[in-house]
Amino acid sequence: MDKITVSKIVCLLFAVEASIIPDNYNRERTALLEEETLKAVGGKQILNANETIANNILMKWKMKELNTSHDDPLHFNFSEHYFSYKKNIEKSKVYQIIRRMPKGAVLHVHSTLMLHADILIKLTYENHLHVCYENEGILLYFSESTPKLGCPSNWALVSDLRNSSGDPVAFDSQFKKYFTLYKGDEQEYDFVDITTTWKRFHTVGRAIGSLTAYRPVREKYCYEVLKQYYTDNIMYIEMRMGLYGLYELDGTRHAKEYLVELHKNVTNKFIKDHPDFIGVKLIITQSRSQNIDRARDTLNATRRLKAEMPDMIAGLDFVGQEETGKPLTYYLPIFSEAKDEINFYLHAGETAWLGTSADENLVDAILLGAKRIGHGYALTKHPSLMSAVIKKDIALEVNVISNVVLSLVHDVRNHPLASYLALGLPVVLSSDDPGAWSAKPVSHDFFVAYMGVASKHADLRLLKQLAINSITYSSLDNERKARLFSVFNRRWDNFVKDVISDVFLSESV
Ligand SMILES: *[C@@H]1O[C@H](CO)[C@@H](O)[C@H](O)[C@H]1NC(C)=O
Ligand SMILES: *[C@@H]1O[C@H](CO)[C@@H](O)[C@H](O)[C@H]1NC(C)=O
Ligand SMILES: *[C@@H]1O[C@H](CO)[C@@H](O)[C@H](O)[C@H]1NC(C)=O
Ligand SMILES: *[C@@H]1O[C@H](CO)[C@@H](O)[C@H](O)[C@H]1NC(C)=O
Ligand SMILES: *[C@@H]1O[C@H](CO)[C@@H](O)[C@H](O)[C@H]1NC(C)=O
Ligand SMILES: *[C@@H]1O[C@H](CO)[C@@H](O)[C@H](O)[C@H]1NC(C)=O
Ligand SMILES: [Zn+2]
Repeated sequence: MDKITVSKIVCLLFAVEASIIPDNYNRERTALLEEETLKAVGGKQILNANETIANNILMKWKMKELNTSHDDPLHFNFSEHYFSYKKNIEKSKVYQIIRRMPKGAVLHVHSTLMLHADILIKLTYENHLHVCYENEGILLYFSESTPKLGCPSNWALVSDLRNSSGDPVAFDSQFKKYFTLYKGDEQEYDFVDITTTWKRFHTVGRAIGSLTAYRPVREKYCYEVLKQYYTDNIMYIEMRMGLYGLYELDGTRHAKEYLVELHKNVTNKFIKDHPDFIGVKLIITQSRSQNIDRARDTLNATRRLKAEMPDMIAGLDFVGQEETGKPLTYYLPIFSEAKDEINFYLHAGETAWLGTSADENLVDAILLGAKRIGHGYALTKHPSLMSAVIKKDIALEVNVISNVVLSLVHDVRNHPLASYLALGLPVVLSSDDPGAWSAKPVSHDFFVAYMGVASKHADLRLLKQLAINSITYSSLDNERKARLFSVFNRRWDNFVKDVISDVFLSESV
């Protein structure tokens, strides 16, 4: 057959196929897809002329970067462990746009696990820091003489060890591994079970917690947190924080309330240096391993602190691995004692096990009137609870990278966030403990959610809506919320102009 005959046959085939598709089919198909787009988070955002240009630039890069992996699914980075592609993230143009994008607020982060190990290591240069090497990790303590705390090895001065090592750079790069689950290039990226991960996570948390319990270090740490988050384009933070007494070099301990006052002072200082930063509020936390009397102490302390410093206290939460900790029902008696005074922002459903107490914590979080739910990972499996979340407009604080690192999901395309976004649920993106795995404050989380979880079609409207949600669902009063919106809008317009003029896309990050 010659070429012309072949093409005639092909044309004929197409004609036949076209004729059996009903006229209205494509119209209905388009209408269904449009309905879904409109329903999804960001679907109702309308972009102005400049935003539309910026969006085209964003989408051009997104398609370019995603197409490479669609063509070769073996190299679809987001179906691998976060640690395996982490070091490549910053090369992405989409990431560079996201990093510069104003992201509003961060509403789910734990106060001591917010900073990268590279910054923590600098704090280990403070004088009088002793280290005790334990089975898995380290414990740190500042004092003029050898600490009296028990230690399975011997306490040693970090400055001595660093000096006697002969290679301070090598010493630091080993030492900082105690502050992060991310071990760099030599790490194997196997997924491990949830209990193993949480054990490693606690070891890291113990090292960082012991470094930041010393008052002078905590002050510096706190200021540095604000600086890093501000640089990541975050203008307001709600931090979850347990109450405990910081100590001084001579061993004196402050009352646990002092920690809140310190955060207030450091925040004020930061605002003085950066007037468009709105501030910090704290969600006081109680470990789920503690009994009800300890929880009542924490609740009462939260009430007192809220009465004294209403601008600093958002509410209360329970923390720790849900599957092994006490269920919310255990604490029911005390929730009712303060429900009119204290708002709850509850971790619930951070589990892959359906029908367990961790899974059913979702029921209690809803019934107890939680303003937001931390994770809510299990929610899609509960249609009635999902309806209740929509009806009561309870925001979901989603932390995709945390769910990967803490062994809930392997391939982020299967993360329930995809469904939450499609259903238009009130979602806020956050990063949980970015310091514990050396992530950027929240930009890595936005990037992975945007590229790995959201629809291929999801564009600037989604990103803008997520930023707006973080302000809308914050615990700020109306006046401060309005101020945050105006700072956000101004920064957003500048961001759009920057994307259009491409001022930073070629810049190294
Ligand atoms: C769009 O960008 C141009 C050039 O930067 C600027 O003059 C104009 O005000 C912008 N329009 C909007 C609606 O932001
Ligand atoms: C990416 O693939 C889609 C089709 O899957 C195509 O429409 C688009 O032009 C491609 N983009 C680039 C930059 O290659
Ligand atoms: C995925 O990883 C490869 C290297 O393994 C990198 O070249 C590429 O830019 C990454 N893609 C994305 C979207 O991060
Ligand atoms: C480091 O060790 C050397 C001897 O090995 C000593 O001379 C020096 O003073 C030490 N420096 C500090 C800062 O301890
Ligand atoms: C906070 O600042 C006030 C006023 O300067 C000061 O009296 C107080 O001691 C400070 N508290 C802490 C914990 O730093
Ligand atoms: C907590 O506050 C309640 C109500 O004010 C009070 O009855 C209770 O004794 C307090 N408990 C503790 C442990 O302080
Ligand atoms: Zn959390």
